[in-house]
Amino acid sequence: MKAIIPAAGLGTRFLPVTKEQPKEMLPVVGKPVIQYVVEEAVAAGVDDILMITGRGKRAIEDHFDRSVELEDLLERSGATDKLRQVRNIPDLANVFYVRQGRPRGLGHAVLCGAPHTLDEPFFVLLGDVIVPGNHCLPRLQEIHKKYGSSVIAVEPVEQQYVSRYGVIAGHEVEPGVWKVTDLVEKPPANEAPSNLAIFGRYLLTPRVMEILPHIEAGRGNEIQLTDALRELILREDLYAVTLDCKGYDTGNILSWLETNVALALETEEFGDQLRESLERLLG
Ligand code: UTP
Repeated sequence: MKAIIPAAGLGTRFLPVTKEQPKEMLPVVGKPVIQYVVEEAVAAGVDDILMITGRGKRAIEDHFDRSVELEDLLERSGATDKLRQVRNIPDLANVFYVRQGRPRGLGHAVLCGAPHTLDEPFFVLLGDVIVPGNHCLPRLQEIHKKYGSSVIAVEPVEQQYVSRYGVIAGHEVEPGVWKVTDLVEKPPANEAPSNLAIFGRYLLTPRVMEILPHIEAGRGNEIQLTDALRELILREDLYAVTLDCKGYDTGNILSWLETNVALALETEEFGDQLRESLERLLG
């Protein structure tokens, strides 16, 4: 299966860091965010990835390319572990690139992939969201096979925070699986139809690519994927699934910090030391 990874956004919530460098290349425990995203796709059997990039995003292409001088140096100095790490990156998958001339929103970014995905269903993985555990995409695939429809991953969030997310309305058809009846982008907490938030993993049918060209700019003057999905449910079923895993949004400073801490705490290398540091800092 193919995957589209939109990574062309301007990252304005992360300025000035993102003035000249992609937020998708920010480090999370020693690895750029986008590498986690590609590894997640590969772990789910994706071997063909279309990255949506744009101006100022060259570092992403360079990261997934060979680094001949660096490899030579590591080889000469006998740093075999590091050499293996560096060589593995371009071998992960076939990564293709298309540039979104102007970042006109997530829906527009996905539409840039239409000539690549053609008439096949495809995954969309937001380039600034990390989903550890490798359970998410296989689950989307399972539900897609069962119902033959598009499927989106959602996670329950505290009611007070729903206004930060796209939220679904729907009814549960089996444990953890909802048939979606509506999608609302960033609703006020007291008007939200549920607390099930869309967090950046989708398996979409080609019908979405037929709808996207007709979607007008919505919130933030951007072409929203959520608006296309609202249109989709008038023509096809759409399912949402909750998972055991959590999506870490790295697109703003606080959540990027939280992601680093959460993932570092789980590592053997840093976990114990970081826990001690945090206890010391918190007094
Ligand atoms: P975001 O909305 O988080 O990215 O999109 P943004 O627009 O860069 O964020 P801010 O609000 O300015 O800080 C989620 C993912 O979709 C990509 C982004 O690069 C990010 O990985 N995206 C977004 C595109 O590829 N194109 C767009 O036009 C918008």
